[in-house]
Amino acid sequence: MEFFTTLYLLLLSSSAAALVLSFFFQKFFMSLREAKLPLPPGSMGWPYIGETFQLYSQNPNTFFAAKVKKYGSIFKSHVLGCRCVMISSPEAAKVVLVSKAHLFKPTFPASKERMLGKQAIFFHQGEYHAKLRKLVLRAFMPEAIKSFMADIESIAVTSLQSWEEKDFITTFQEMKTYAFNVALLSIFGKDEFLYREDLKRCYYILEKGYNSMPINLPGTLFHKAMKARKELAQILAKILSLRRQRQRDQAHSDLLGSFMEDSEDLTDEQIADNIIGVIFAARDTTASILTWILKYLAENPTVLHSVTEEQEAIMKRKEEKGLSWADTKTMPITSRVIQETLRVASILSFTFREAVEDVEFNGYLIPKGWKVLPLFRNIHHSPENFPEPEKFDPSRFEFTPKPNTFMPFGNGTHSCPGNELAKLEILILLHHLTTKYRWSTMTPQNGIQYGPFPLPQNGLPIKLSPKAKAEAKA
Ligand SMILES: *[C@@H]1O[C@H](CO)[C@@H](O)[C@H](O)[C@H]1NC(C)=O
Repeated sequence: MEFFTTLYLLLLSSSAAALVLSFFFQKFFMSLREAKLPLPPGSMGWPYIGETFQLYSQNPNTFFAAKVKKYGSIFKSHVLGCRCVMISSPEAAKVVLVSKAHLFKPTFPASKERMLGKQAIFFHQGEYHAKLRKLVLRAFMPEAIKSFMADIESIAVTSLQSWEEKDFITTFQEMKTYAFNVALLSIFGKDEFLYREDLKRCYYILEKGYNSMPINLPGTLFHKAMKARKELAQILAKILSLRRQRQRDQAHSDLLGSFMEDSEDLTDEQIADNIIGVIFAARDTTASILTWILKYLAENPTVLHSVTEEQEAIMKRKEEKGLSWADTKTMPITSRVIQETLRVASILSFTFREAVEDVEFNGYLIPKGWKVLPLFRNIHHSPENFPEPEKFDPSRFEFTPKPNTFMPFGNGTHSCPGNELAKLEILILLHHLTTKYRWSTMTPQNGIQYGPFPLPQNGLPIKLSPKAKAEAKA
C-alpha cells in the first residue's frame, strides 16, 4: 500500500513536473523563436527624437537613399516619435499593401483625424471601410465621371481664359482652384456653385491648420482650422437638407448622391467627414502634379511638341464639339507624360501603415505597433526599375512597368479611388492648354519646396499667352 501510494505520488508529481517543465520549455523555445528573428538592420538615433532631425535637415530623399545604400531595402529607423520599418522593394511593398494588408493598418496622427473627421474613409479598415470604398468607387468610375466631362471642360476653358489676362500666375495656386472646382462638381454635381465660395473660404483656413502644430488655443492656426471644420460641417448639413427636400426621383450620379442612397444608411456626420476628406485628398495632389507637368513640358520642348501635335489632331477631328470620353482614350503621348511626371515627382514619397501584431517579414521581426513605411519614391527612382531614374523620359512608359514598381495611386484596398477622375481632369486641361497657349517660367527655377508635397519653387510662377501671339513674337 505504502509503496503504491509513493509510486502514485511520484507519478503524479513527475507528471506535474513534466507539465511544468514542458510549459517552461515551450515558453523558452517560443521566446527563442521570437528572439531568433532579428529586427531589420538600421539605426534608431537619439532617444525619443530618433532620426527625425537627420530626415528633415536635408532633402528627405537623400536620407532614404543613404539608408537603402547602407542597409538594403528593409531597414529600421525612429522618426517623428515612432519606431518604424521602411521598405523600398516592390516585393515588400506588395506584401504590406496587398497580400498581407490585413496585418498592416493605415495610421495617421490623431490631430489629423480630428481635423478631417474621425469617420473619414482613410482612418478605417474592415466592413465600414469596404462600404465607403464601394460608394466612392461607384461615384468615380468611368461611367459616372463621363457625365461630368462637358462641365469639367468648361471649368478648364474658363480657368485658362482668366490666367491669360494676368501678368503672371502662380501655377500651383491656380491649379488648386481648378482641382477644387472639379472636386466640388464631382461631389455635388450642379449644386456646387451655390456654396462654392463658402466652401472654398473654409477650406483654405482648414488647410493652413492641417500643416501647423496641433495646439488648440485661441489664435493658433490649428484652432482656426478646427473652427473652419465646424463651419464646413454646417454648410454640408445645409446641402444635405436641400437635397432631401427635392423630389426623390431625381437620380444623382455624384458622390453625394452615392452617399445619400437610403439603403446605405450613412449618418450626416459620416457623410460630412467623408466629403471633407475626399476634397482634401483630391485637391493638392492633383494640383501638384499639374504644376510639375507644366514645368517638365516647358523644359522639354520636343515632348511639348509631340503632345501639342497629338492634341491638335484631336481638336481638328472633333471640330466644334466638346471632348468625348473616347477622345481621352486616344491621347497616348499625353498620358505617358502624366505617368512619367507621376513617377519623377512622386509627390507622395511614402505612406504610413502600422503592424497590428508581431509580424515575421523576410526573416525579420516587425513588432506590433511599429510603423511600416513603403517608400514609393525610392521604388520609382530605383535604377533597377527605371534606368536613368532622374531623367524625364515619357517614352519609358511605352512598356508597362512591372507589378508594384509604379504605384502613384498606391495599391490594394486603400489605393486611391479617384485616379480616373484625376487623369481625366489633367488630360482635359492639357488639351486646351497645349492647343491654345504657350507659357514661360518667370525665373530660372530649379529649387524644390516641400509643403508638404514637393513642388517647384514658389509654386512655379509662369506667364501664359495665346499661342498665335506667342508664335508671332518668336
Ligand atoms: C498591385 O498588386 C498586384 C498584386 O501584386 C499586382 O498584380 C498589380 O500589378 C499591382 N499594381 C500596381 C499598380 O503595381
